[in-house]
Amino acid sequence: MAGLSGKRILLVIGGGIAAYKTLDLIRRLRERGASVRAVMTRAAEQFVTPLSVASLTGEKLHQELFSLTDESEMGHIELSRAADLVVIAPATADLLAKLANGLANDLASTILLATDKKVLAAPAMNLRMWLHPATQRNVAQLRADGVLFTGPDDGAMACGEFGPGRMSEPLAIVAAIEQAFDAETSLPLPAGLGGAKTGALAGKRVLITSGPTHEPLDPVRYIANRSSGKQGHAIARAAAQAGAEVILVSGPVTLPDPAGVAVTHVETAREMQQAVEAALPADIFIAAAAVADWRVEGEAREKIKKGAKGPPMLALVENPDILAGVSKMPKGRPPLVVGFAAETEKVIDHAKAKLARKGCDLIVANDVSPASGVMGGARNAVHLVTLQGVESWPEMDKDEVARRLVAHIATLTPTGKTSS
Ligand code: CTP
Repeated sequence: MAGLSGKRILLVIGGGIAAYKTLDLIRRLRERGASVRAVMTRAAEQFVTPLSVASLTGEKLHQELFSLTDESEMGHIELSRAADLVVIAPATADLLAKLANGLANDLASTILLATDKKVLAAPAMNLRMWLHPATQRNVAQLRADGVLFTGPDDGAMACGEFGPGRMSEPLAIVAAIEQAFDAETSLPLPAGLGGAKTGALAGKRVLITSGPTHEPLDPVRYIANRSSGKQGHAIARAAAQAGAEVILVSGPVTLPDPAGVAVTHVETAREMQQAVEAALPADIFIAAAAVADWRVEGEAREKIKKGAKGPPMLALVENPDILAGVSKMPKGRPPLVVGFAAETEKVIDHAKAKLARKGCDLIVANDVSPASGVMGGARNAVHLVTLQGVESWPEMDKDEVARRLVAHIATLTPTGKTSS
């Protein structure tokens, strides 16, 4: 890890209750040797005082766009460029909307538009605001523009609701900042400032499955699982950001399609298998989907009715194993095949057995027992299991897992063009 010694961070503080955590973030960054210059929006001043921010950064605080003294000392353009990384924390719905649409009507938004540096956003807002299609559209646009994101996390919110919208914890933001510096050579610059196809996976075709599958009982009922698709979709996004051509075969999820990724939507395991076969060849296949192991034999054409015979007996048949099928292709097998192992106990032992049984090159194993909060949650702790051994990573945001996994996979992939 590069460390943050000597790094110059320009911190844009938006107006949200999470701004109190930004004070701790400043402290954590300075502890690691970074210098922090802060810009506060008017709304941010309602949540933390300019004096606290100035004291913690040890630098002059910038608040006004039209300030004669500030402009003569350091103009807003210079301020936006005299940094190694721009971090928005908390990134409010308003700041994200302004940046996605190129608005610049205060110092914070002007700086974000004027900068030629990478931007990392740590969103924080009410969950309805985060899930609103307008915010999701803005986030997708910003990702496509090369803006990096950390969080938001799921959890209890200041407004009393529960769900995605909490700003990542300061240490998670620090990890994302370190990651942004680490990945400097493998991530694209904002659009227009550098080619998007120059990353660690440039020239590679990556096929990914994500989400659950739904196996119908009749026209209105189905068997499902708790997979949200967050991890698989994050990997698709990270692979696209690393310059790959990405094809995502997604089961039913509520997530937006990742920007810059070709997405095929399917419902059942058999549809997923067909879509995967149709999308091959690929250089890398990543099976992140939680494919249903069984489907109901003889799906009813009409809705099954209650009746005198009592509850229906459901006979199950096994679904095709998509990962094993691709791993064991006699011809045209992708050079790198990565599977996931969702386990609720003996995670590593089961993952080792799966690696052997399915014939893939790497298994990313995770604990999906209810206590872990992984299924549907924002965070994940994974173990990379290969024939060579096991590498365990600490718990982190699913976006971080995705970025690290993509960087790791890039080191395992032979260089050269797609095998077709
Ligand atoms: N997988 C697949 N097709 C299936 C089942 C699983 O492609 N029909 C893939 C998953 O995408 C994942 C890996 O296989 O990459 C392991 O999935 P998991 O559900 O953990 O394992 P299972 O094969 O279901 O084995 P078990 O029931 O023993 O846990």
